[in-house]
Amino acid sequence: MEASFAKMRTQVMDLMQVHNLIDLDTHLATLADWKASGRVRYVGATHYTESAYPALEAAMRRHTLDFIQINASVAERGAEQRILPLAQERGMAVIVNRPFAGGDVFSRVRRLPLPGWAAELGCTSWAQILLKYVIAHPAVTCAIPGTRNPRHIVDNLGAARGPLPDAAQRARIVEAVRAA
Ligand SMILES: NC(=O)c1ccc[n+]([C@@H]2O[C@H](COP(=O)([O-])OP(=O)(O)OC[C@H]3O[C@@H](n4cnc5c(N)ncnc54)[C@H](OP(=O)(O)O)[C@@H]3O)[C@@H](O)[C@H]2O)c1
Repeated sequence: MEASFAKMRTQVMDLMQVHNLIDLDTHLATLADWKASGRVRYVGATHYTESAYPALEAAMRRHTLDFIQINASVAERGAEQRILPLAQERGMAVIVNRPFAGGDVFSRVRRLPLPGWAAELGCTSWAQILLKYVIAHPAVTCAIPGTRNPRHIVDNLGAARGPLPDAAQRARIVEAVRAA
């Protein structure tokens, strides 16, 4: 964590998250002190697999976290069952990692033409539809798609504009990807 301050060249970190719940209690104790002294503004914990949901859920109940970071996508919907509702109940912000299921979801939709209803959502690509599916969930604060391609960054930023899908439209996205 000290190395992160050095690499970011900052005295104050907006958000420091404990990676993959590793040695969580130890690190959260340190972070509580740093938050009290103003060194970090928010603290959180991350994971990226469904197998970790029970441990994450226990941590969310045991600790006062400002943020959680977890995987969620049209292809990995497990967090919608308990993790996202619990985050809402506990007032925790949610960062979604793997919003494209690590890229796997593109192998399913790549050859599909863009549905006619994409225009209703202001989407010009499947990536935008998939991101809007994630960020439209009421518990989700933001998504952090990964890419090494500048054109994909521009494409993904398109999901920040225009309408978000409602529950019925989110269900339609799930069905379209399931049928692909
Ligand atoms: N425990 C943790 O804290 C944890 C665990 C996992 C991930 N993360 C974080 O979550 C973020 C995302 O994870 P991720 O990169 O594994 O998964 P991801 O965002 O679900 O998928 C990334 C894949 O999608 C492709 N992609 C991105 N935008 C695209 C577009 N517009 N069109 C077509 N393909 C596109 C990328 O290929 P291109 O490079 O070709 O665009 C890459 O193969 C990262 O910042 C990562 O560090 C955190």
